[in-house]
Amino acid sequence: MSAPRYFIETWGCQMNVLDADKMSGALERHGYVRAIRADEADVVLLNTCSIREKAQEKVFSELGRLRPLKVRKPELVLGVCGCVAQQEGRAIFERAPFVDLVVGTRATGSLPILVDRLRAGDESARHVADTELRDDSIEFPYEHIRREPGGPTKAYVTIIEGCNHRCAFCIVPTTRGREVCRDMNDVLAEVRALADRGTREVEFLGQTVNAYRDPWGRTLGDLLVASSRIDGIERMRFTTSHPAQMTERLMDAMAEARPKLCAYLHLPVQSGSSRVLAAMRRGYDRDGYLAKIARLRARMPDLAFGTDVIVGYPSETESDFEQTLQLLEDVAFDTVYSFTYSPRPGTAAAALDDIPSDTKFQRLARLQAFQKGIQERLGQRWLGRDVEVLVEGANVRNREEWTGRSGEARVVNFRGPSAPGRLEKVRIVRATAFSLRGELARGA
Ligand code: SAH
Ligand code: F3S
Repeated sequence: MSAPRYFIETWGCQMNVLDADKMSGALERHGYVRAIRADEADVVLLNTCSIREKAQEKVFSELGRLRPLKVRKPELVLGVCGCVAQQEGRAIFERAPFVDLVVGTRATGSLPILVDRLRAGDESARHVADTELRDDSIEFPYEHIRREPGGPTKAYVTIIEGCNHRCAFCIVPTTRGREVCRDMNDVLAEVRALADRGTREVEFLGQTVNAYRDPWGRTLGDLLVASSRIDGIERMRFTTSHPAQMTERLMDAMAEARPKLCAYLHLPVQSGSSRVLAAMRRGYDRDGYLAKIARLRARMPDLAFGTDVIVGYPSETESDFEQTLQLLEDVAFDTVYSFTYSPRPGTAAAALDDIPSDTKFQRLARLQAFQKGIQERLGQRWLGRDVEVLVEGANVRNREEWTGRSGEARVVNFRGPSAPGRLEKVRIVRATAFSLRGELARGA
């Protein structure tokens, strides 16, 4: 009999992407092999995101699409994993009774056993849900993660899971539980193992990554400094930071970990209005946020910033919104991810949603056009300069070009002899709001 095959479809953030590699690794150690398509698989898993309602609804429409497959092949195991699984639990079986399995965000370890039981036709195993929020899920053995063979250029490394904040709009504390941190020794062992197999860039992950504190009291700053000493690792990043926990000590450690620490920081602000920030329970106001940016720039003048913004938050006025635009201008972010507010079940703001949908989408469009102008202007600063690019592969839009990212996280496309995993100096000849184009500056 040939080995059973699995297929995983993933939505959402970087942590979900890495969780899919953990699920794959756990299944492969159990004798499963990867299928290229869902209709060739014996096990199909949807690794889901519930950050906004639209993300969650995509899961149910995908389940609807998979239903005929399950009807044709009743022995197929169909599972929902990740944040929607954690949040909805057994309610998923009511809405989609043809789903066999629900596995929460901290139950990846039990996935192979549950799948085996279902495949063995164990009737007591029908409609199984495991949504226990285990503290030890963070200790998933890194050797079991199924990373792309041959050593990927870039690798994610989760160091902290969960979030102890209670932002009024956010479902993450429900879907990811309270903060749990890995032992720094284990993280460093993983980084060394990655370096040995050719990884050049590591990105440390956590919903509030700068809250990291291991059982021995070691912090993200300690980890950055220690990792910067590992041979073979050329670049480090971390995401996502909470502004309130961006301490002086961490800023000092960041400066110490340069230049291996990339000159880019993602620091979600959410709104430029102190009144809205208070309603969101973010724990800082407009001036407090700007002060953190100023202190970071004082230590690292070349640091580029990215942020997240929510528009149309309950009670947001035109003047609140304009303060957000003004903040984008004041900070001059290189990258902004913007969203319309989406009420989420179980959150403090769940019952509030008083801004008409039209207004929300108009504000979103205005903000994005405004930010595009800022990025067009900022892009010009690169013209004629040499930037260091970590090559990721061929540009999918133009196969004659290579594509990669600069330390500041800008996409850079260029021509010439190169290869994935190489660090190249590229002289920039063209800049748009979203990417740069250049030429190899070898020997320059
Ligand atoms: N610290 C988290 C951030 C949560 S999700 C992290 O790991 O990245 C990413 C972004 O989604 C948030 O910064 C916020 O801008 C947006 N977001 C979260 N909840 C939202 C909601 N209910 N409606 C709209 N956007 C939301
Ligand atoms: Fe969400 Fe706020 Fe935590 S945005 S992830 S509750 S810091």
